[in-house]
Amino acid sequence: MSGIRFDGKVAIITGAGGGLGRSHALLLASRGAKVVVNDLGGATDGTGAGATMAEKVCAEIKAAGGQAVPDYHSVLEGEAIVKTALEAFGTLDILVNNAGILRDVSFLKQSEQDWKLVLDVHLFGSRSVTKAAFPVMREKGYGRIVMTTSAAGLYGNFGQTNYSAAKMGIVGLANTLKFEGAKYNIKVNTIAPIAGSRLTAQVMPPQLLEALKPEFVSPLVAYLCSEVCSESGMIFSVGGGYFSRVAYFEGEGVFLGTEKPISIEDVQARLPQIKDLGKAVEPTQAVDQTMKIVKLMKLA
Ligand code: NAI
Repeated sequence: MSGIRFDGKVAIITGAGGGLGRSHALLLASRGAKVVVNDLGGATDGTGAGATMAEKVCAEIKAAGGQAVPDYHSVLEGEAIVKTALEAFGTLDILVNNAGILRDVSFLKQSEQDWKLVLDVHLFGSRSVTKAAFPVMREKGYGRIVMTTSAAGLYGNFGQTNYSAAKMGIVGLANTLKFEGAKYNIKVNTIAPIAGSRLTAQVMPPQLLEALKPEFVSPLVAYLCSEVCSESGMIFSVGGGYFSRVAYFEGEGVFLGTEKPISIEDVQARLPQIKDLGKAVEPTQAVDQTMKIVKLMKLA
């Protein structure tokens, strides 16, 4: 098959026993990637474990003529997952951090366990597998990493403080990894998907679940995993045939000077300008903020 291929490339897709991860794994394998289908095989709330989910997806890949091995470790055991890839296929080129769980509950009712487990799987799990994958990618001077955030993190969603915090943690992780990976040709991008899955079955009506197929998300993920991808540090909103970049902007703001004390009322009076995004620009690194202020203060 012509077009973008993954022949000779080894990919780990976490949480690939169903939903979006399964769809990413099937697509990458159909274009020649050797895939580690990782899935703990538990319930949507993070309880339990089992081998069946990962094995089923591997069987599907093999039936279609592709190559895959199952891996049943939790994403918190990143070293073990990467070891599966190295033992089965000898290297690692692609990592899609996709595994996830939900423990939705309003903040006042949230237990420590509800908070911790969601942070563990999404944020600590993404970090754990990436931490193990990064040295392999650095060594070979090639890597493609895709993180999975959520609109709930980017914009907020009632009852999901744990999930939102974890998902924005992932954005922060990717924001800085893009710099640390740059000189090794490791590209790190993030998707905020929407798709029908067993996770969204809890909150979406059946008609929407059926229409928002995971297969509409995977082509973007596969592009971000490909050699031709030159983007890094980007966030994309994707689902149901829709694709868009998401970014943060900082407004022009106001400079009140530092010669005389700034009162609380000064801040109140200037809020419309402080909040105005009419002349907003997109900062590309943390130091952009410092430099803007240093220039306004005429220190540089
Ligand atoms: P899903 O429940 O079908 O897939 C998640 C998979 O992760 C499951 O197969 C589960 O067994 C696995 N998993 C859970 N904990 C694990 C662990 N500790 N180690 C390894 N595997 C584990 O749900 P879906 O929707 O496909 O979710 C995939 C990702 O996309 C998640 O990160 C989710 O938060 C994210 N997402 C999904 C949205 C959607 O509309 N479906 C919206 C926004 C984000």
